[in-house]
Amino acid sequence: MTAHDSVYSGPVPDPAAMRKQYRAEGLDEAELAATPVEQFARWFKDAAVEAHLFEPNAMVVSTADAEGRPSSRTVLLKQFDEQGFVFYTNYESRKGRDLAANPYVSLLFPWHPMARQVIVRGAARRTGRDETAAYFRSRPHGSQLGAWASGQSSVIAGRAELDASYAELVARYPEGERVPVPPHWGGFRVVPESVEFWQGRENRLHDRLRYVARADGTWSVERLAP
Ligand SMILES: Cc1cc2nc3c(=O)[nH]c(=O)nc-3n(C[C@H](O)[C@H](O)[C@H](O)COP(=O)(O)O)c2cc1C
Repeated sequence: MTAHDSVYSGPVPDPAAMRKQYRAEGLDEAELAATPVEQFARWFKDAAVEAHLFEPNAMVVSTADAEGRPSSRTVLLKQFDEQGFVFYTNYESRKGRDLAANPYVSLLFPWHPMARQVIVRGAARRTGRDETAAYFRSRPHGSQLGAWASGQSSVIAGRAELDASYAELVARYPEGERVPVPPHWGGFRVVPESVEFWQGRENRLHDRLRYVARADGTWSVERLAP
């Protein structure tokens, strides 16, 4: 079987004909939590525990380079609290370089099976080295080596280069051996400036409630037209 073999041999589905009716229950100002992080916690719990979504912590991270050219990719959220939303990556990757030049970022959680999305906008800063090291140590040995093996986002000659690099690392740091934290690897904490909660509803009359940070650290909430 090659990558292009498939049991299905019919036509390619037409995306324009794909139309779902979303649920009737909405999201009301009166039921919102006091902070967007608390509201996020509620919805994250719904996504993980009630809807059993696959990887509800997967989010689309959009960055822009110094010239304002955007790029997006999926990344896993690893922590969230009133300090912000944390993910880990390679600081020399495209996103790492973008964020060094322009810290503004958008995080989008696409919880389609629940007709929900959450969009966090804010600025990213690197997590401290102690925090990064603590998280790095919690990762499986193979993932720790993977962070060393890959010069994320650089062009490589072929798969063999990656496998050879990994094999070298396995020889140097066998299972049980302490793997140092790569200096080019670590976390970003996104401090939210606005967080939008989107609930799909019937007839495209969706609810969109957006928390916006005030200078004194409190939040205002505004409703956006769908
Ligand atoms: C489900 C999923 C989870 C991912 N999680 C991460 C992650 O936590 N950190 C990361 O650096 N890349 C993660 N990736 C890979 C990124 O999407 C991306 O390929 C990589 O970070 C390089 O992106 P860049 O070249 O735009 O910087 C994930 C990809 C998928 C599909």
